[in-house]
Amino acid sequence: IANKDFEGEYKQTSLIYNQTEIKRILLVGLGKEDEIDSEKLRSAGFLIGKKQRELKSGLVHIAPAMQIDKEADIIIPVAEGVLYSKYDFTKFKTDKKDKNKRASYHFFGIHLQDRDAVNYELKRIETMHEGITLTRDLGNMPSNYLTPVILKNNVQNEFNNSRSVKIEVLDKKELAALKFRLLLSVSQGSKQDPCLIILRYKPASAKGKKIVLVGKGVTFDSGGISIKPPASMDEMKFDMAGAAAVIGIMKSVEKLKPQNEIIGVIPAVENMPGGNAVKPGDIIKAYNGKTVEILNTDAEGRLILADALSYAVKRFKPDIVIDFATLTGSIVAALGDKMAGIFSNSSELVNIFKEAGDSCGDRVWPMPMLDAYSKDLESKYADIVNLGGRWGGAITAAKFLENFVSETDWVHIDIAGTANDVKNIDYLPNGATGYGPRLFFRVLPALQNKK
Ligand code: BES
Ligand code: ZN
Ligand code: ZN
Repeated sequence: IANKDFEGEYKQTSLIYNQTEIKRILLVGLGKEDEIDSEKLRSAGFLIGKKQRELKSGLVHIAPAMQIDKEADIIIPVAEGVLYSKYDFTKFKTDKKDKNKRASYHFFGIHLQDRDAVNYELKRIETMHEGITLTRDLGNMPSNYLTPVILKNNVQNEFNNSRSVKIEVLDKKELAALKFRLLLSVSQGSKQDPCLIILRYKPASAKGKKIVLVGKGVTFDSGGISIKPPASMDEMKFDMAGAAAVIGIMKSVEKLKPQNEIIGVIPAVENMPGGNAVKPGDIIKAYNGKTVEILNTDAEGRLILADALSYAVKRFKPDIVIDFATLTGSIVAALGDKMAGIFSNSSELVNIFKEAGDSCGDRVWPMPMLDAYSKDLESKYADIVNLGGRWGGAITAAKFLENFVSETDWVHIDIAGTANDVKNIDYLPNGATGYGPRLFFRVLPALQNKK
C-alpha cells in the first residue's frame, strides 16, 4: 500500500505471501467508499470466492477493512457473492476439474460489533442460496433430462420427506377432469405428459398475507405449430425458469419457516408441434370459462398460466398472487437482461417490489397496465385472442393474464431477459441465474405491512 502498488480501486486485487500462520492475504479493492453499493460488494465477494477456488484454499477469513455502520449491509452482499462463486453446472462434463467448491468461508470484522445479527443473516442467506442452487440446477437441465414428469419426480424427491411443505400433483387425467383445457391444449402436441405441481407450506399459526406463487414451467418451448426459428432455440430449455424459481423459493421456505402461508403452483408442459398439436385458429375454453382463440401457438406461457392462476385463485383464495414467467421476447427488447418487467393491479405492490429488487439485486422495472392495451386482445370469434399486436407484446401478455386473476392482488414478473445468460454482472456467469428467490425473500417482510 505504501508503494501504491495497491490503491484499492474497485476489483483491484493483490495477493501477499506471508510466513506466519496466515499464509496468504488477498487484498480486494472496493473503490471509493461513498460509491460502494451492494452490487459491487457481491462482485467483490464473487472475486474472493473464485480466487479461493483457484488457490484451493480451504477456509478463507474475510475481514472488511473499513469502518462500517450497519455491518450486515456490507457483509451479506459479500457473502452472497462468495456463494454465487461456488456454483457450477458440471453434471454433463465427464472430466470434472474443479473440485474445490465446498471450500468454506468465515467472516470476522475488525470492527464487528453485532456479531449475532450478522451470523443470523449469514445463516439466512446461506439457506436462501440452497434454494437458488436448486433453481439454477433445474434451469440448466436440458429438456431431454427435464420433462414435466421428470420435473415432478425431482420435486417429489426434494419434498417427499418434508414435514412443513406438502406436495400434491395433478396428472394429465386429473387435469382433464378439472377442465384445464388451455394447459392441455399446449401440451397436446408433445409426447410428454403435462402435470400441475402444488407445494403447500402452512405454519401452525399462519400470520399475515396468504401468498400463492405461480411459475411458468414449459420444459421446452419449440413454439409448437408456430414454430420458432432455429437460432438460439436451445435456450428454450430455460422456459421453465419461473417454475424453477418457485421450487427454489419453496425449498428455502421449508427451512426458513416464515409466518405466512405460502403455496407454489407449477403448470408443467412441453410445447411441441406433434400431429395432435393445437393449431392457429383453434378455440379453447379456459378453466375459468372464458374462450380463447389461439392465434399463435408460441404464445403458450400465458395459456398454461391462465388456467393455473384461475385455479389457484379459486381454490386457495390468496391475498396475493405472484407469478414468475419467461413470458415474452418483448420484455427482453424493452429492458434487456438486467431487469425483469413487473406488472400488477396494485401500485403499492409495484413499489414494494421495486425497492426490494434494487437492494437485493433481482431488479424489476414497472411496466404499464393501461386498459387500452386490452383492445389488442379482442377476438372475432371468441372472448379473447392469445396474441397482441405488433408492439408492446410484454404488456398485452400481462393484460391477457389479468383476465384470470379476478380481483386478487397480483404481481406478474416477466423474467425472459433475466433468467439466463446475463451479461456484465460479474457474479452471474453462463446459464441459469436463479432469478426470483432473492426478490421474494426481500419482499416478504415488506408485505406484512401492506394494507
Ligand atoms: N418462451 C417465450 C418467450 C421468451 C423469448 C423467453 C425469448 C426467453 C427468451 C414465449 O413463449 C414466446 O415464445 N413468446 C412470444 C410471444 C409471441 C408469439 C406473442 C414472443 O415473445 O416472441
Ligand atoms: Zn413460446
Ligand atoms: Zn415460452
